[in-house]
Amino acid sequence: MSDTKAFYLTTPIYYVNDAPHIGHAYTTTAGDVLTRWHRQRGERVWFLTGVDEHGQKVMRTAEANDVTPTEWVDRLVGTAWVPVLETIDAANDDFIRTTEVRHKERVQRFLQGLKDKGEIYEGKYDGPYCVACEEFKLPGDLLDGEGDYAGQKVCPVHGRPVEQVSETNWFFRLSAYAEKLLAHYEANPLAVEPQSACNEVTSFLRGGLQDLSISRSSFDWGIPVPWDPSQVVYVWFDALLNYATAVGLGDEPGTPGAEQFASTWPADVHLVGKDILRFHAVIWPAMLMAADLPLPKKVFAHGWLLVGGEKMSKTKLTGIAPSQIIDHFGSDAFRYYFLRSITFGSDGSFSWEDMSARYTSELANGLGNLASRGAAMVGKYCDGVLPEATAYSDAEAALQALLAETVVTADDAILALDFQTGIGAVRQFVDAVNLYVTEQAPWVLAKDEANLARLHTVLYTICESLRAIAVLHHAVMPKATASLWQQLGADIALGRLVDQRVTDAGRWGQLPVGTTVTKGANLFPRLEDPAS
Ligand code: ME8
Ligand code: MG
Repeated sequence: MSDTKAFYLTTPIYYVNDAPHIGHAYTTTAGDVLTRWHRQRGERVWFLTGVDEHGQKVMRTAEANDVTPTEWVDRLVGTAWVPVLETIDAANDDFIRTTEVRHKERVQRFLQGLKDKGEIYEGKYDGPYCVACEEFKLPGDLLDGEGDYAGQKVCPVHGRPVEQVSETNWFFRLSAYAEKLLAHYEANPLAVEPQSACNEVTSFLRGGLQDLSISRSSFDWGIPVPWDPSQVVYVWFDALLNYATAVGLGDEPGTPGAEQFASTWPADVHLVGKDILRFHAVIWPAMLMAADLPLPKKVFAHGWLLVGGEKMSKTKLTGIAPSQIIDHFGSDAFRYYFLRSITFGSDGSFSWEDMSARYTSELANGLGNLASRGAAMVGKYCDGVLPEATAYSDAEAALQALLAETVVTADDAILALDFQTGIGAVRQFVDAVNLYVTEQAPWVLAKDEANLARLHTVLYTICESLRAIAVLHHAVMPKATASLWQQLGADIALGRLVDQRVTDAGRWGQLPVGTTVTKGANLFPRLEDPAS
């Protein structure tokens, strides 16, 4: 194993109470784009996603479906959660299930370690609990129910009544960490992003923390507490640990697990939705502090995909399946649309009209049209052999300069998880090349032998621009760019697209003269209106 630390990115592990919707796909897609980008910077990367299988929410869903929790999770993971990764074209390195032995053993060992250090004690929990959030609530967190729930207290996220829990449980001394966490975030202001999320966490911490019940005794679907098998580990305590158990937490020195941990931990980015920010920015780092482990470098909380102004949700059955969109538009357009049209960190909504409009203008008429025009003209005027550029003018110099600028803008933005700016910069370059084609009008140049050098220069410029676009858009649209790469003959001339460095994409003149360019299938075929 290499001794450089990997860029380690995680998504939440999703509850398998139902099949994934586009909210889950959104987080995983963002993680996939970011990790592909880092890979194309030549970094070693580790990208983890997975599923959260324990707890009352999943257990009750299984009961409602008349199957055991094990049958339920095996079915849902196998038929829905694993396949969706292929649907959205995610290239994750690992997939963790919290029912796996590797996870259970490491959770138990971690918990025993905290117990031995005096971080855990027995106590009584009396208070509200939201099963949909799997969260112990404070009375001040709750809202007054309306309609069917009038007279009851409801969870502000799910709008469902909370339950009253009264159990003797094991508690973690979370209250001891409020000051330490505040000091950590003051010293590391980028450890929680965006700024609004950081403000939320620090103001919450300033209000002080209560100790946290980390076990449950009223049901048994979970990991047994090692010294008290009458209790199972609280599902969030179990789930948060996945980020570390998946890479070998606590394994004996000299073992593969220990080596992996050393070369992976701490996580560089935990990507989460803003619904689960506090778990990740308060409870999780406190658990790590208690165990004397390094803290993750960043928790990034993105916004919600909304339906009718509310968070799209499995619990409320308002989800749209990723395949509903991808069957029509394809996975590339799905990935492009969600990261390009919503500011990462803000809420956004999906509409067929908006997606269709962008697909047509930016992908079919934009990149798709540029690619097919470029390849078709090299076919028609040069028998498919990439000609040499010998007569550069200001127009080409301006494009080359814009490309160099685009690379810097895109790299800075994507490293900062500002996908919209990063993708937008590449799209602007595509627009500039399309404009260049219109202005240079190679079909006019081709009419007069005297313009041959200019014609060749223009055609080379188009193809070399497409070469750079394929490299820069690969993380977002792996399939279309792979096809473009092949049409340019770049796979033979320059090697695999995944091996092309994004930071080097602006170096002009990489596509060799003489390369065979072939016009293949349209990258983004025009589509029927889904409504018709
Ligand atoms: O919270 N918009 O799992 P979960 C955007 N198991 N993102 C959304 C979304 C929406 N409408 N709905 C869901 C859990 N997500 C725990 C996590 S981690 C140690 C344990 C995404 O199935 C978003 O990333 O409720 C959100 O945080 C996550 O799915 C919640 O998934
Ligand atoms: Mg949820």
